Amino acid sequence: MSAKAGGDSTETTVAGTKDTLAARTSGNGPDPSIREGLAGVVIAQSEICKVDGERGTLSFRGYDIGELACHSTFEETSYLLFYGELPTAAELKAFSARLIGERAIDDTIWRILSVLPETVEPMEALRTCVSALCSIDCEDDDTSEANTEKSIRLVAKVPTIVAAYYRHKQGLSPIDPDPELGHAANFLYMLSGEQPTEMQAGSMDLAMLLMAEHGFNASTFSARVTAATLSDIYSAVTTAIGTLKGPLHGGANRRAMQMMLDIGSVDNVEPYITAALDRKERIMGFGHRVYKTAPDPRSAYLRGRLYELCAELGDFHYYDLATAIAETVEARKGLYPNVDFYAGPLLYLLGVPLEVFIPVFAISRIPGWTAHVMEQYARNRLIRPLATYVGPDNRPYQAIDQR
Ligand code: CMC
Repeated sequence: MSAKAGGDSTETTVAGTKDTLAARTSGNGPDPSIREGLAGVVIAQSEICKVDGERGTLSFRGYDIGELACHSTFEETSYLLFYGELPTAAELKAFSARLIGERAIDDTIWRILSVLPETVEPMEALRTCVSALCSIDCEDDDTSEANTEKSIRLVAKVPTIVAAYYRHKQGLSPIDPDPELGHAANFLYMLSGEQPTEMQAGSMDLAMLLMAEHGFNASTFSARVTAATLSDIYSAVTTAIGTLKGPLHGGANRRAMQMMLDIGSVDNVEPYITAALDRKERIMGFGHRVYKTAPDPRSAYLRGRLYELCAELGDFHYYDLATAIAETVEARKGLYPNVDFYAGPLLYLLGVPLEVFIPVFAISRIPGWTAHVMEQYARNRLIRPLATYVGPDNRPYQAIDQR
């Protein structure tokens, strides 16, 4: 932790935790005018997504998430996020063809993937490769048309990178994208080499669609902060990937599933959750910054799809287990499941390895991130908040041999 003396007197450079800051401010108490974590602070107008935390509703470009979940696809929803309108049949066909045409990855990316140390997690590999894509993309232009093209390339290539790296880590050869398959089905195919069933492909598509966008969440906000300096779109998405990786954001889906595996059976739910709450632990996949009074609307659609998938498999173990956990956490703590909770068992039953869970969130969120980056460029102002300095003041500089 460092505190710079002098300089901007309204600004702290303390990189500490809430507790450390609380300790520093003890005596005066916390400043009630500061909205820690920017909770409840509105920082922009946006036409992309409406999140109503009180009512528990969500819409993309004015279309309710339930309508999209029931009738749309990931490709169509991506088009909607980029262009603001639902595509005609011809527009969707052309857009899907563009995505298929951009799925392959350059030799440079293969070489980067192959030299990464084995300890590198898929999200770290993805962050590195998306950063590298910037130097490979020869389009210097930063018009909105060029940025839409770059966004399409990102949506198309990121699943190929994730699947290739996962297989490389397993000592398996990468699988070329299949141009006959849709975006979600192709990703499952590139992971396992097996053609997914209609139910599997549809379930993956639904999960991706529901995760495609969610307003000013932490990773989108971080992407917009980078874009607001007029840095390039690849840098903004690289920033977002780094932010999504954290356990309080995208990292929760994997941890939620790991918890389900640790709990193991419905009988063990009550003692496990009670013990975790007694230890003041956070239950992953529960709680939300925005949905405080109503459930995250995405979780209902994921839960419904989990039921259908379990019905097709003829095994309701994970549906029953997830339901029991959700009921227990709500009863004990008043917290609802968020998007990550039911996404966990859904991805697990689709054969997605645990280490690829967070990258699936990233794959799904590219359209949202890039739509926001383009919106930021269109109405840009540098994002630069302030902080109250709470460190020591007016300290005399001591020569090094006198400290
Ligand atoms: N388990 C147990 N207690 C919780 C949880 C949880 N999952 N979430 C919040 N709380 C408690 C927290 O301990 C605090 O209690 P107290 O007032 O007694 O100290 C109270 O609820 C408020 O918590 P908070 O951290 O101030 O709330 P927040 O709005 O800052 O945090 C959150 C939101 C999502 C970070 C938090 O709910 C959490 O850590 N959840 C678990 C991680 C998770 O599932 N993240 C995925 C979020 S949804 C997908 C995404 O957008 O990334």
